[in-house]
Parts: sequence; C-alpha cells; structure tokens
Amino acid sequence: MAITRTVAVAQGKGGVGKTSVTTNVAGLAALAGLRTLVVDCDPQGNVARDLGLEPGTGSPLLSALVSGSPLPITRAVRAGLDVVEGGPEVADLSGLMYARSARGGGNLAQSLHASLAAVADDYDLILIDTPPGEKVLVEAALGVAAAVLIPTRADDASLDGLARVAERFVVARETNPELRLAGVLLFAVGARSRRLESSVRRSIQSIVGNAAPIFEARVRHLESAAVDSRRAGMLAHELEGAAIEDRRARLAALRAGKAPADGLLVRNAEGLASDYEAVTRELLTRLAQIEEEVGAA
Ligand SMILES: Nc1ncnc2c1ncn2[C@@H]1O[C@H](COP(=O)(O)OP(=O)(O)OP(=O)(O)O)[C@@H](O)[C@H]1O
Ligand SMILES: [Mg+2]
Repeated sequence: MAITRTVAVAQGKGGVGKTSVTTNVAGLAALAGLRTLVVDCDPQGNVARDLGLEPGTGSPLLSALVSGSPLPITRAVRAGLDVVEGGPEVADLSGLMYARSARGGGNLAQSLHASLAAVADDYDLILIDTPPGEKVLVEAALGVAAAVLIPTRADDASLDGLARVAERFVVARETNPELRLAGVLLFAVGARSRRLESSVRRSIQSIVGNAAPIFEARVRHLESAAVDSRRAGMLAHELEGAAIEDRRARLAALRAGKAPADGLLVRNAEGLASDYEAVTRELLTRLAQIEEEVGAA
C-alpha cells in the first residue's frame, strides 16, 4: 500500500532539478502550514546543503532502514519542516539489503515502507528525493510513494532520463499499484523561449503518453540564484529577502565610500520563488485529485 501524500521526486538523469524542486516545494508547503517531511535517499546528500545543514554521512538513515529502528528525523529545520538526511553511506543500502533479502528478509522498499508508515500520521506531505542512478534506492522510493514527480530539463539527455523513469514507474506499479504520476515538471527553462517550451512539452507527451500530466507551472532558468541557494543554504523564497538586504548593504558601502562585501550573485530571486510557489500549488492540487481517484477506485 502506498503511503498517502508521499511524493517521490525521480528522474534517471542527474542535474535536472530533483533536489532543488524537493527542497523548495517542501519549504513552501511548510510555510503554508503543512507539516512536511523530506527524506533524502541520495548518497550525495544535497538536501542538507540546500537547507543550510551540515552534510551528514548517511549512516543514521542506513542503520534505521537496515535495523528497523526509528527514522533519524532532524526536526524543525524550518518551521513545520523536518528532514531525514542522506549522505554517502546510503549507497551501501543496495548491497546490504540485497544480502538481507537473499537470506529471506524484506527488501529495501519494505523497510522504507515500515519506517515511513510509523511517522506518516505526523505529516501532511512527505517528499522523497532520489539519486539519478542507484536503481535499488529509486525503486524503493517508487515502491512506497503515492505519486511521482518527474522534473526534467529540455535537452535530449534529460528526455532520455525521463524515458528511463517512465519505465521504472511501470515496473513499480506491479508492486505498488496505487502509485500515480503527479506530473512532469519543466526545470531551468528560459523564460522567453516559449516556442522551445511547447516543442519540449510535445516531446514529453510522446514519451510519457498523452494522458500524462505535464505541469502548467515550470521552473525558470536562473543560475545565479541556484548557486547562491546552495552556497548559502537558502531556498528561493528566502533568497528573495536576502537579495534585498544585500542591495541595502551594497548601497551603504557605496555611501561610506567602501568596497561592497562579497554578497549574493542574484539581484532578484522573486521570479524563481514565484515559480516554485506555482509548482507547489499545482502539486498539492494534483495530490488531492490523486487521493480522490485512489479513494474512489
Ligand atoms: N533555476 C535554475 N536555473 C538554472 N540552474 C539551476 C536552477 N536551479 C538549480 N540549478 C542548478 O542545476 C543543478 C542541478 O540541480 P539539482 O541538484 O536540483 O538537480 P538534481 O536532479 O537533484 O541533481 P542530482 O541528479 O545530481 O541529484 C545544480 O547545479 C543547480 O545549481
Ligand atoms: Mg539531487
């Protein structure tokens, strides 16, 4: 049985926005008052970085899943937002769980399901960030989620990655028939290339099928904000305020005849923050719809 209101963010290709989308949507959902949990199933552990936490080793998550002890939840990293951190040792899960299921024990999806089911009632929304490869980890996330959100860039390599995750989705439904496609989300697209965008939307449709939802909202290309985000451990909507502070500091330095301190690269993160807001709204609407469909079935 899928864990309700749990979304796996997955894509076969690296660098297509899985972690950025996960953390920003989680941050905004929490800001909107939803009790939100992010689970980082990626050995890269980038969720921690995006949220300004010290990168962890992944060892607490590994032990929890292997031994069935409670998930290592870091509470209140923002108001209403909790995190289970990933990290390098999460990569060892594949081998360890393989050995365990060969001995007749449960597989990784079963452990993850048990761990999440134990805390699911505490949350209105659970987002699982997944690595670009690591088949076993991605399968486990798809094995427990109620929905999958697939971010993609517009290039051909990313669309190949989209095809790979679409195949995994089909396989995952054999063990998790309640899994639904939340949608495909265009990531880092040029704000003014509408023609490119509609051509990409057509390509996506041909890969995932006409019935599959492609998000109306998309995340614009804004490299400066992306770099600042990760350096400063701030989400897009948090950068918005920081960029204004930064301008103030620059002007003060100018008045004082001093050189401005090294500040943020981005001058205005407002557009990006409002893109994520639209994505969050669309995802929540879509989840409500999925819940209704699954409930009716
Ligand atoms: N709005 C944006 N515009 C352009 N680049 C961005 C934007 N947001 C994030 N990036 C950059 O895109 C890269 C990939 O982002 P992200 O880490 O979210 O992708 P990912 O799919 O999680 O990657 P991985 O597969 O390695 O886990 C990062 O280098 C990030 O700085
Ligand atoms: Mg990532």
